[in-house]
Amino acid sequence: MKNKLNNILYKLKYSNLPREPVQIDIAITKECCLKCQFCDCWKRKKEENEVTIDEWEKFLSEVKEWTKIKFLCIGGGEPFMKKGLTDLLRFCAEKDILTVVITNGYLMNDKLIKEVIDSGLQKINFSLDGTEKTHDKLRGKKGVFKKVNYVIDKFKELKPEMPIELSTMINNANFKELPKFVEWIQKNKNIDSVNFQAIQRVVRYDGPEWYKKEKLWPKDLKKINEIIDKLIYLKKKGYKINNPTSQFKMFKKYFENPENTDNLYCKAGFSSIPVDCKGNVLLCQKQAPIGNILEKNIRKMYYNRKSKNIRKKSKNCNEKCHFLINCYYDER
Ligand SMILES: C[S@@+](CC[C@H](N)C(=O)[O-])C[C@H]1O[C@@H](n2cnc3c(N)ncnc32)[C@H](O)[C@@H]1O
Ligand code: SF4
Ligand code: SF4
Repeated sequence: MKNKLNNILYKLKYSNLPREPVQIDIAITKECCLKCQFCDCWKRKKEENEVTIDEWEKFLSEVKEWTKIKFLCIGGGEPFMKKGLTDLLRFCAEKDILTVVITNGYLMNDKLIKEVIDSGLQKINFSLDGTEKTHDKLRGKKGVFKKVNYVIDKFKELKPEMPIELSTMINNANFKELPKFVEWIQKNKNIDSVNFQAIQRVVRYDGPEWYKKEKLWPKDLKKINEIIDKLIYLKKKGYKINNPTSQFKMFKKYFENPENTDNLYCKAGFSSIPVDCKGNVLLCQKQAPIGNILEKNIRKMYYNRKSKNIRKKSKNCNEKCHFLINCYYDER
């Protein structure tokens, strides 16, 4: 009954008429300085023709002329590998575009931290996947945990009001220690919140059974259920956890079977505009781009036939799409 009602509300919320987007997600570069076990970014060939900072600025001006987006999320690769990133951050601040950068924190030193703060960045999100030993192992380098913590402390020292959020990816190598990790976050006055993500197949999609080949896929279902229940309990007690309880419940189902996407709703084409480092606009993660920002006006692309088809499909999409569990998660 509850599901039926949710379905109706969902269809009303996302009617066929496209609403203007609220968020732009850009993968500003393919390049990275780390070799994380769970990410293939660093295995990819260097991209010769990435969108330049000037071109991103032109694109964002076009967006601003068309609509008032709530925020711009900058990821990668590692965003701080992109030369001129702080110029783009400054440009966004001047244009009243709220920005969030998601980073591994490894390249930041005192000078860069100061430059980022001066640029007017609103929010920074650091990836931290657990305790020191676990994080450094997953990220493929000793010292990354210490470095991220140094950077977090420095940010808060220089700009206490800057919200600092952690992004923590749940996987087989860290899940058992997550309640302890949340206790540690709770005591750390420089961290404002944590957002958990479930491991998924990013960059290289290996087909529906990808998780069976994934070394970091959690194997002990009973244990992971117990741990997620503990996280729900801690959230209810007021710990600094951002995920809604419904998402944790969905994580449990997902770890049981990532192809069971019942009750997961796709809002591709309805709220965010994802753009890759070459300027391709990928409303749906599995379909061809609706166009390229270097060739076409974003407003025209957003209303073109390809976008309409994606929107139509996303409302009733039967693909067992694991992309919906994290950033695409829609709470109902
Ligand atoms: C692709 S990274 C880009 C930003 C930056 N390099 C970083 O690591 O924070 C963005 C986020 O995706 C997460 N991520 C990477 N691979 C993942 C995977 N296989 N499953 C789920 N999340 C993943 C990272 O931990 C990070 O929080
Ligand atoms: S998760 Fe981030 S830091 Fe790790 S390889 Fe991927 S892009 Fe680089
Ligand atoms: S659920 Fe379907 S429309 Fe949505 S992102 Fe996945 S494949 Fe694309």
